[in-house]
Amino acid sequence: MKIALVLAAVCGLASAVDLSSYQVHHKTPLGVDWKGLPIQVSRKLFSPKNVPFIEHPAGNASWLGMNFDFQYIKPVFDTFNSTEIPLITRGESHVTVISPPEFAVLATAGVTFDQINTFARQSKIQDSKVTPICLGKEDVLFEGVQKVVYQILVKAPELIKIREKIFQLYAKKGGNTALFDPQSFWPHITVGFSSSDLFLEQGIYKGSNVCYRPITLTK
Ligand SMILES: *[C@@H]1O[C@H](CO)[C@@H](O)[C@H](O)[C@H]1NC(C)=O
Ligand SMILES: *[C@@H]1O[C@H](CO)[C@@H](O)[C@H](O)[C@H]1NC(C)=O
Repeated sequence: MKIALVLAAVCGLASAVDLSSYQVHHKTPLGVDWKGLPIQVSRKLFSPKNVPFIEHPAGNASWLGMNFDFQYIKPVFDTFNSTEIPLITRGESHVTVISPPEFAVLATAGVTFDQINTFARQSKIQDSKVTPICLGKEDVLFEGVQKVVYQILVKAPELIKIREKIFQLYAKKGGNTALFDPQSFWPHITVGFSSSDLFLEQGIYKGSNVCYRPITLTK
């Protein structure tokens, strides 16, 4: 009995360090192989209740974000930063809830920066439930430059609710509903990038399609 337990433990350990056997039982949410073993992330990252909400005014390129504590992103950044492909970080972390191009669309119907930020505060944006999906990676040739970007993909149903409230205001003000979809949303926390970030406007989808490594939560 004891020997069987020890064997099981040893086998468990062996499979935990061997990617090919890991892949026998574990796939990404879209059913393809992971490209690496689980990466550890502090669960404190996902409860930023005490991290202050920050406004991001920038004219027609203003945006709305949920703010996170970068200290829990830094170890993930360090895992992927290397002399071979040095990464850049802005030293802060957030989930973009309304992107600058989306803000510009909303503004055409007269939805204001203040209205959006008021909704966010009323909805207690910093208390939104956010859970990790995976560590995502994009590696694409864009305008002749090889660009690598890492992020933590998350599920954030309460942030979709905030987007839906903003959509309702936009529609009420006569905004063209073909130009803003509150449910077209791929929430993520950017970890780092080789030269610049990549966006939907460049044809990049940051959904489960880019899942690269699973996430294990630690204290
Ligand atoms: C990333 O790695 C490079 C190369 O090792 C290093 O020079 C740089 O300081 C690192 N960046 C950060 C933010 O730690
Ligand atoms: C913002 O966009 C509106 C049209 O949607 C335009 O009239 C205005 O000049 C723009 N403001 C700035 C600062 O670019």
